[in-house]
Amino acid sequence: MNSPANITDPLVLFMPSGKRGRFPVGTPVLDAARQLGVYVESVCGGRATCGRCQIEVQEGNFAKHKIVSSNDHISPKGPKEERYERVRGLPDGRRLSCSATIQGDLVIDVPQDTVINAQVVRKAATDRVIERNAAVQLCYVEVEEPDMHKPLGDLDRLKAALEKDWGWKELLIAPHLIPQIQKILRTTLPDQPEVSPGKWGVTAVVHRDMDSSRPFIIGLYPGLKNEAYGIACDIGSTTIAMHLVSLLSGRIAASSGTSNPQIRFGEDLMSRVSYVMMNPDGREAMTKAVREAVNTLIGKVCDEGAVDRHDIFDCVFVANPIMHHLFLGIDPTELGQAPFALAVSGALQYWAHELDIDVSRGARLYTLPCIAGHVGADAAGATLSEGPYRQDKMMLLVDVGTNAEIVLGNKDRVVAASSPTGPAFEGAEISSGQRAAPGAIERVRIDPETLEPRYHVIGTEQWSDEAGFDEASWKTGVTGICGSAIIEVVAEMYLSGIISEDGVIDGSLAAKSPRIIPNGRTFSYLLREGRQGEPRITVTQNDVRAIQLAKAALYAGVKLLMEKQGAETVDAIRFAGAFGSFIDPKYAMVLGLIPDCDLAEVKAVGNAAGTGALMALLNRDHRREIEREVGRIEKIETALEPHFQQLFIDAMALPNKVDPFPKLSEQVKLPPRKATSETETDAAAPRRRSREERAARRARD
Ligand code: FES
Repeated sequence: MNSPANITDPLVLFMPSGKRGRFPVGTPVLDAARQLGVYVESVCGGRATCGRCQIEVQEGNFAKHKIVSSNDHISPKGPKEERYERVRGLPDGRRLSCSATIQGDLVIDVPQDTVINAQVVRKAATDRVIERNAAVQLCYVEVEEPDMHKPLGDLDRLKAALEKDWGWKELLIAPHLIPQIQKILRTTLPDQPEVSPGKWGVTAVVHRDMDSSRPFIIGLYPGLKNEAYGIACDIGSTTIAMHLVSLLSGRIAASSGTSNPQIRFGEDLMSRVSYVMMNPDGREAMTKAVREAVNTLIGKVCDEGAVDRHDIFDCVFVANPIMHHLFLGIDPTELGQAPFALAVSGALQYWAHELDIDVSRGARLYTLPCIAGHVGADAAGATLSEGPYRQDKMMLLVDVGTNAEIVLGNKDRVVAASSPTGPAFEGAEISSGQRAAPGAIERVRIDPETLEPRYHVIGTEQWSDEAGFDEASWKTGVTGICGSAIIEVVAEMYLSGIISEDGVIDGSLAAKSPRIIPNGRTFSYLLREGRQGEPRITVTQNDVRAIQLAKAALYAGVKLLMEKQGAETVDAIRFAGAFGSFIDPKYAMVLGLIPDCDLAEVKAVGNAAGTGALMALLNRDHRREIEREVGRIEKIETALEPHFQQLFIDAMALPNKVDPFPKLSEQVKLPPRKATSETETDAAAPRRRSREERAARRARD
């Protein structure tokens, strides 16, 4: 135990955390870090054999902190550290903080990427630095040899060593390890010269986030084990995404995705629930399919990251409620009908093998809590990632899929709902709609004078009006419109006056432009006359209607939450999910998908659900944080809100019949309001209105 520090003791500042304190000369840097709560990994318990505790001294005059830091202010390498450097190698400037002691004022950098064994560093999947406090810890101990006069069992002596060196009390052990203990303790590894031979050195994998709250030995290895991995997985209806992460360094070893094989049972969530209802073995088949896909994906990320799947000790999963239930083997039928009852809403913990996940035998598995019947653990993950509850500002978080999950709030109060947007935003139900793939139109601009379009196609560098476009686009062809372009083309049609605020294509413009073409009793906009063998790409009146219905459902859900919050405006908008990564926020706002907001405050955040899972994997405090916050989030069921119908009808207009968009108007010239019946007879208008009311009821129910 070091003596208490006084004012003349050296001042030590740790970066990037910024934590600082005074410590007596001779204090090991690792101890100083521990006392300040700075996370520095250690597997060997300070024996200078694992290399996990590396730090760097930053040299210079840090006037702001009143510290002059120098390599002379840290002890020179001692014999243990020199042995480690000789055997394993230390990068230039790196020191082992368990061996190096404080000799003067220091600024210490704790690298976020400590990589042992020179493994390839992959591109980070997320730029965020997540403070580490993983549920899994590797603890090397040297166990006393048996003694005839002290009849304590091998397990008991192992536990005693773990308590003495690491402070673990009341340790439990995974039952499958008990028959293996004696063999593991008596094995010496020839390739570990730094571990003293014959010392009964073993590494225990300790998990400290069990339901019982007692630490659990979930793995045991002879000698020094210096790698432990975890997976963070987001099971979406169409895609399963996974990160493979070192639990010791936080390094992302690999990230990958695969399509959800349940698609063969039904494209969308409700058709999968129907499949379960109509087929006696439907639930089992879908559970098996998704677990197999997860196992295949684990194989893929392990191959990519050069990691043995049996070194995975912790798994965190997020999913929408129906995927969550199917993955866990729960019948999701109740989620298909009001009142949309979840079988379980809280966070869950399993042994990974109980869910057939093929990783280490003792690995644990944690699922984030679900927020409500239609707002799942994926929305909880996105909420953890973006943290509306950590903000002063009113933040709107939307994840647009066939069902939009919406969270709105700030540090005082958070509310959440889902809204049935349908598949139009993904290109389904749109006459020329298609997936985002080479050949799909992804960007559109329309000249308001001539009504001529220009567009950009995935896989072709040039825009359609640039030299070389025709030749360059031959390879992929021009095959349809993907989700981002559907938003843009309808918004551009509105901005150029082709459609009215009610979404009606103005047939009178046919006299001005050959691109306005009759289509039965309505009109279409010709975006592209197909070349040989290519489809003709048009935007029909029905397409515009489908987008209006989808965006009205989303906006009405958002507006309902704003009303619950008593908020006139939102300060920031975050689009989670793939859809949000490709749409231009300006066009989303022109269409009235989202409320008025400073465009600089509208951001796509990618797979925020997956980032939330990663945070919960790397830091168990984040598990408690989201469990607590989900308990505080107020859930709003749009189906039960009579006001939803009126909000939906108002939101059918572009951008909205009643809500102003002053911030948007500062940046985009919105067209003057047009009469609604330019191309519709007055007799047709009531029919249209009653159609909207029916659609609103359908969306609500
Ligand atoms: Fe293991 Fe320092 S703690 S080398």
